[in-house]
Amino acid sequence: MCVVKRAVKYVHGYAPEELDRLVGSADTLQNLLHGAIAYPAGTLVLEAGCGVGAQTRFLLERNPGITLVSVDIARESLLRAQAAIGRGACFLQSDLYRLPFAPASFDHVFICYVLEHLPHPLDALRALAALLKPGGTLTAIEGDHGSAFFYPETAEALAAWRCLQRLQLQTSGDGHIGRRLYGLLKASNAKKIRVAPLPVYCDPGHPEMMDGFADKTIVGMLKGIEDEVLARELLAPEVWRKGVQDLIALSKSDDGTFMYTFFQGVAQY
Ligand SMILES: C[S@@+](CC[C@H](N)C(=O)[O-])C[C@H]1O[C@@H](n2cnc3c(N)ncnc32)[C@H](O)[C@@H]1O
Repeated sequence: MCVVKRAVKYVHGYAPEELDRLVGSADTLQNLLHGAIAYPAGTLVLEAGCGVGAQTRFLLERNPGITLVSVDIARESLLRAQAAIGRGACFLQSDLYRLPFAPASFDHVFICYVLEHLPHPLDALRALAALLKPGGTLTAIEGDHGSAFFYPETAEALAAWRCLQRLQLQTSGDGHIGRRLYGLLKASNAKKIRVAPLPVYCDPGHPEMMDGFADKTIVGMLKGIEDEVLARELLAPEVWRKGVQDLIALSKSDDGTFMYTFFQGVAQY
């Protein structure tokens, strides 16, 4: 693995539980997130912000014959990605705003859950687009925390969920970036853009979604920010804890539901 030194802190952090959460969530959502992606064999693909390789695995399994270069700024995540994936991808530690590649090097770029954490997502898209060959594509998948609704909706659960949005705004990034994807891709000078919503719906008729998404992805995300929420006094501790407990109870109940929408943008340059 090549190394470029630079420290970064983002809202979810790099605790082992958070890194496990990314892997589990990618497993649960693999058909939704990767179903429409088909990179031809022989193409060179850049994965920007690969983290622990949770999506890297599916990029390789579902697109046989590609050459994959996966970059992230976080060394610990990359080491874990490399251990999980082995020689399937070439891993590089680098800042995606200034990657050490010549212009027009790649056929495709894939970026998932990263733009929402960046202070300058448009600059990032422009930097990544410059690495594409003419006609190359950039696929960006982002969530939008404003798209979530659920039942039962207790006041505490709603308040706890809103803390994620507030915390993300206070650190860096935009948890509502999904709705901005079209505009950002357009501003990055894409010639063609197609944005599609990717809805996730959980109810007890889909126990794997209640467990893998409502509990492990959504509640897992809240558990990961608990210390920061309480340290910043975004919510009274008892309200926060009741809200998280209410969401856990929802995911185990026989009538709870949770709805969330991701957005997938494909831009051609
Ligand atoms: C929420 S994780 C998503 C990881 C992976 N794409 C996935 O779907 O599991 C966001 C990742 O973006 C990385 N990241 C944030 N800013 C970055 C930057 N400027 N350059 C490269 N990676 C960055 C973080 O280190 C983290 O691994």
